[in-house]
Amino acid sequence: KQNERESLYIVINYAAEYYRDMLWNHADGKAIGLSYFKERGFTDQVIKKFELGYSLDQWDGFAKAASAKGYSTDILEKAGLLISKDDRFYDRFRGRVTFPIHNVTGKVIAFGARTLSNNKKQPKYINSPETEIYHKSKILYGIHQAKQAIRNGDNCYLVEGYTDVISLHLSGVENVVASSGTSLTDDQIKLIGRYSENITVLFDGDAAGLRASIRGIDMILEKGMNVKTVVFPEGEDPDSYSQKLGTTKFQEYLQEQSQDFIKFKVSLLTSEAAGDPLKKAETIREIVESIAKIPDPIKRTVYIQECSKILEIDESVLISEQNKILIRQN
Ligand code: GTP
Ligand code: MN
Ligand code: MN
Ligand code: MN
Ligand code: MN
Repeated sequence: KQNERESLYIVINYAAEYYRDMLWNHADGKAIGLSYFKERGFTDQVIKKFELGYSLDQWDGFAKAASAKGYSTDILEKAGLLISKDDRFYDRFRGRVTFPIHNVTGKVIAFGARTLSNNKKQPKYINSPETEIYHKSKILYGIHQAKQAIRNGDNCYLVEGYTDVISLHLSGVENVVASSGTSLTDDQIKLIGRYSENITVLFDGDAAGLRASIRGIDMILEKGMNVKTVVFPEGEDPDSYSQKLGTTKFQEYLQEQSQDFIKFKVSLLTSEAAGDPLKKAETIREIVESIAKIPDPIKRTVYIQECSKILEIDESVLISEQNKILIRQN
């Protein structure tokens, strides 16, 4: 088993080098992959920093190169790089730009790969499958490149996608990781918690995304972490908006728009419930549910006080509601 893990690291690392070589040196890689990144505003420097690459639009270009190197198809398949069908092997990633996913120590363990075509029948991103060395729910994209900055800034920005992470680095914000489109897990929150107990969640500017993320955030509060949020305008994500505003204005936007998550939730739900007493009652319950997740009783008390003012509800009402939930939880 130990040997197999070592072999997986070796072939995945070889694949990362191969795709990178295609991007910088192969005619198609340069004309298609590199131009794509340039069009998205990525610099040579950031492309190199994230070890981005390109997989040729061929059935077995990588399979042939890796076999010539002496790597067994068995281990290449186990690494998720090849797919076998009818006794033949073909490349998992074809005609896509590649984003290597690193573990905390900086070893490549998997890939995300984006299509360059607008053909809606193709999935936009294809990811490596789960392997001995890649457990999707335990890793965050960008953690290796971010960990020092998270420690130094004592805050971690959380975004949805690969390109959000990269564009934030371009804007001088290096304390950023991505959940890669799935909801955050316990292990991922603990991973961030190794470096800071402060998380700022950057939502894509669409209502569906917002709703889904709000549910996930109670889990972060439960771990005793402090959560802030920044909301982006409709149709924008951190990548598109940072490219639109440029470094200085984008950094100012993050500073100015960061708000405490619970206060944000209060104002969002309150505005949705305006003029409807039953909805307001429901809002109050939802808010208290979030507050009850916080392990620290002092922090809970401060939030109860704040929310009592904003919601114009007596503190004692919120406290008794909170106590009911706390009793239920224990
Ligand atoms: P760009 O369109 O390249 O800017 O990507 P994005 O990151 O803005 O994409 P989006 O907001 O749609 O999705 C966020 C993240 O979810 C992506 O970075 C991926 O990690 C993941 N994701 C999106 N689409 C797919 C998909 O079709 N398949 C899989 N497996 N993951 C996806
Ligand atoms: Mn590396
Ligand atoms: Mn989205
Ligand atoms: Mn997005
Ligand atoms: Mn995007």
